[in-house]
Amino acid sequence: MFFDKIVRPALYRLSYHDPELVHERTVRVLARLGKFAPRGAFRVDDPVTVLGLRFPNRVGLAAGMDKNGRALPAWAALGFGFVEVGTVTRLAQPGNPKPRLFSLPASDAVINRMGFNNDGAEALAAKLARDGKPGVPLGVSIGKSKVTPLDEAVEDYRFSLRALYPYADYFAINVSSPNTPGLRQLQDRAALAELLGELRKTSAELAGEGTPTPVLVKVAPDLTDDALAELLEVAVEHGVAGIIATNTTLSREGIAPSESSLAGQGGGLSGRPLTARAAEVVRFVHDHTGGSLPIIGVGGIMGPGDAVRLVDAGASLVQLYTGFALHGPGLVRRVSRGLAARPSR
Ligand SMILES: Cc1cc2nc3c(=O)[nH]c(=O)nc-3n(C[C@H](O)[C@H](O)[C@H](O)COP(=O)(O)O)c2cc1C
Repeated sequence: MFFDKIVRPALYRLSYHDPELVHERTVRVLARLGKFAPRGAFRVDDPVTVLGLRFPNRVGLAAGMDKNGRALPAWAALGFGFVEVGTVTRLAQPGNPKPRLFSLPASDAVINRMGFNNDGAEALAAKLARDGKPGVPLGVSIGKSKVTPLDEAVEDYRFSLRALYPYADYFAINVSSPNTPGLRQLQDRAALAELLGELRKTSAELAGEGTPTPVLVKVAPDLTDDALAELLEVAVEHGVAGIIATNTTLSREGIAPSESSLAGQGGGLSGRPLTARAAEVVRFVHDHTGGSLPIIGVGGIMGPGDAVRLVDAGASLVQLYTGFALHGPGLVRRVSRGLAARPSR
């Protein structure tokens, strides 16, 4: 309440009502303050072991909030049980022209077409080498550079996997952002099989005698059941460790009438309009794989009840983005408290 009524309006006023500037300034402040914050000061203790990793609780920061890993200690201090940085690409790139981020407060939603603005995989690797890990499991999301043709995508992903292999506790293969032209075609059977096959080989080489780092695939909420079933078959065939469900949607259902003028903005919609669909996808993945693949549930968690529903649908872990951006850091604690009362998978 305090955040919604006082802090958010002030942040927006101070940043000329530009959501991207609010985001940029917030991450900048967190990057500075995080260094001094006691690790896990606000963290709810609800430990689970998933993907062979020990998570202090089940609530993570979703990809895209801290693409370049600028504020890792701050996320841990705010109570997140894990952090996913990225999506990074082989090449540093500026992303799409601004404006590219739109806040829809009446719909409890965001539309973004950032387009993987990031400093590149090597810059993230250098930062992680310098600053170390956040003290909670670290996921690294990798994607395709915009200028790389689709038929050369494998090499792009492989480059990032290699560069970041020493630092990631898991990798998220992003083939589901709607904001890089053609990217979602990598969810198709043949393309995905080739990509996952090659990444598996590379990962085994890099691991040497050790255990390969888990590789997860992040899926779009807009796949049909048939397409998702096919994707899951390919994922299981190629030893994928888990599924992250879901990315943002191209659907515009659930936008409040007062914000319908923004529905025409291109990009992915997230937040409340995604809540029900994300739970459906999580349930589909869980049922279709007989619960054999760990699932990170993400999409429209705006309160603890939404996270509980994702866990009940089959998620082992959850992530926040839009809820956290619109309602502030108190949500991390509320959600992790809500989940702590539930049995884990
Ligand atoms: C501004 C913005 C940027 C995002 N960037 C990424 C990204 O780089 N990689 C990715 O996998 N997902 C990205 N996402 C998607 C989120 O990680 C998440 O899957 C999605 O927003 C649904 O969760 P939510 O409803 O809690 O926001 C982004 C979302 C937003 C709103």
